[in-house]
Amino acid sequence: MEEKKVQRVWITGGSSGIGRALALHYAREGAYVLVSGRNVERLDEVARATGGAAYPLDVTDAEAVKRTVAAVWEDAGPLDLAVLNAGAAFKREGRDDTARNLKRHLEVNLLGVAHALDALRPRMREAGGGTIALMGSLAGYVGLPRTSGYGTSKAALGYYAEALWAELRREKIDLKLVSPGFVRTPIVAANEFPMPFILEPAEAARIIARGLERPGFEVAFPRRLAWPLRLLRALPAGWRVQLLARGAGQR
Ligand SMILES: NC(=O)c1ccc[n+]([C@@H]2O[C@H](COP(=O)([O-])OP(=O)(O)OC[C@H]3O[C@@H](n4cnc5c(N)ncnc54)[C@H](OP(=O)(O)O)[C@@H]3O)[C@@H](O)[C@H]2O)c1
Repeated sequence: MEEKKVQRVWITGGSSGIGRALALHYAREGAYVLVSGRNVERLDEVARATGGAAYPLDVTDAEAVKRTVAAVWEDAGPLDLAVLNAGAAFKREGRDDTARNLKRHLEVNLLGVAHALDALRPRMREAGGGTIALMGSLAGYVGLPRTSGYGTSKAALGYYAEALWAELRREKIDLKLVSPGFVRTPIVAANEFPMPFILEPAEAARIIARGLERPGFEVAFPRRLAWPLRLLRALPAGWRVQLLARGAGQR
């Protein structure tokens, strides 16, 4: 697909962190930026800063997502890019809380994205194509200890993107997976483990925007974290779990 400047972009989770930084980046590049999220005050602040528009939304509500995509399309015209970035991380209530914790993560990080993709797809198809970027994570590459809910939702999102890539390409929709390492945002603020090679949101936004301009399915960064995790992923699972347990001091 040919490279061209982004003109109209919708960003979910645009009220904070990476989404906010992406909104500011694209606005500086001259795009019209539409942002969604639940926090109206923060969304309005971003809309003011970008000269764009705010569409309050909880992505777990499929009907609300449909209505919002319809409004965005009607107000702004066909989008050339949608960044389905809204995501959350929830602490487990205790060691026996994997199911409820997983459900909360899947509702936002996987189904929230799927609701938006389903709402965007027919419109983009009819408009002749566009790009949809899904915000995954390097945490989805391997089964990291301490992140069973969040990591599972991001691993599933990667699978979902891979599984849909070919059929969307036939509709001229370029589906991309963004897999960041650590970025200094509220989502990681409470992490009590080391976060190697952590980036500032503005730097992450620049890398993502540059990556989305290029052909290719995935934008994974920083490379010095992505490559070791790729190698770890290529190992037999039995070795991998031993190595990861050792790394986390859980032998
Ligand atoms: N920071 C990292 O190290 C890192 C690494 C890899 C991937 N990621 C991914 O990057 C994305 C952005 O996260 P961030 O780091 O920028 O964290 P953040 O600052 O906490 O931003 C999360 C965004 O998602 C929105 N959101 C959460 N739940 C939502 C819901 N139910 N409906 C609509 N919007 C919702 C939040 O807005 P409201 O609260 O206003 O709803 C906020 O704008 C997430 O998908 C995250 O998993 C982050």
